[in-house]
Amino acid sequence: NAKLCYFHQVLLGDMGAGKSSLVLRFVKGQFLEFQESTIGAAFFSQTLAVNDATVKFEIWDTAGQERYHSLAPMYYRGAAAAIIVYDITSSDSFTRAKKWVQELQKQGNPNMVMALAGNKADLEDKRKVTAEEARVYAEENGLFFMETSAKSATNVNDVFYEIAKRLPRA
Ligand code: GTP
Ligand code: MG
Repeated sequence: NAKLCYFHQVLLGDMGAGKSSLVLRFVKGQFLEFQESTIGAAFFSQTLAVNDATVKFEIWDTAGQERYHSLAPMYYRGAAAAIIVYDITSSDSFTRAKKWVQELQKQGNPNMVMALAGNKADLEDKRKVTAEEARVYAEENGLFFMETSAKSATNVNDVFYEIAKRLPRA
């Protein structure tokens, strides 16, 4: 009785936080040291087996550069889930992530499943944002939180899997 569910998902966050790298790791199992900055947005899809269902993620990887900000609503408006990504070595990227959360709370789909991903967890020696600070923020705002590394693959599949588990099934 396998069920197939489609979910539109979006990644948001500061430029260089690692959105494209997380998607590339999840979809292709690859990591590039010199990942190019995204222009506009890029589309990917990936299928996951969750319990008795097959979940097909249709993923919009948005561009973090400020000049593309006005395009973002096109990608998050219909989204069932969002991953807001920051870089644990950049306080500015954490501030930017909080702004995205506010924007989604005001203008996104009210039932959206939101995840906060503190990426580049492999760069512990350059850390600027503590896991505790992010965990508290996520809890207060109803997001689930994980630190990830697209480079080492830590928690990357887990973020997508946790989202799939939280999505309502039609
Ligand atoms: P925009 O497309 O400009 O919004 O950036 P982005 O959020 O898609 O970031 P991108 O994936 O392009 O990554 C930026 C840089 O960080 C690249 O050089 C990546 O190789 C590097 N990077 C991404 N994830 C990680 C990680 O987990 N660890 C380390 N050490 N570097 C990473
Ligand atoms: Mg990108």
